[in-house]
Amino acid sequence: MSDPKSGIMISKQGPYKVEGAVRLLDSDGVRVDTAEGKPFFLCRCGHSNNKPFCDGTHNRIEWDPALKGI
Ligand code: FES
Repeated sequence: MSDPKSGIMISKQGPYKVEGAVRLLDSDGVRVDTAEGKPFFLCRCGHSNNKPFCDGTHNRIEWDPALKGI
């Protein structure tokens, strides 16, 4: 199996790191701008003030980063 050029990494206590050529779309299917060629981080805690992106808030709040069922 070849190694894909894009992927999503789930951090232990933080956001999803998205790498590679992917399109990020909002719930209406409208493209959300990301820095081309650079990874971006999607909020997993639900408390970012810059959703869907992580703004580091997860470091200052209490939340459960456990991945239940994985
Ligand atoms: S995961 Fe970083 S602000 Fe939510």
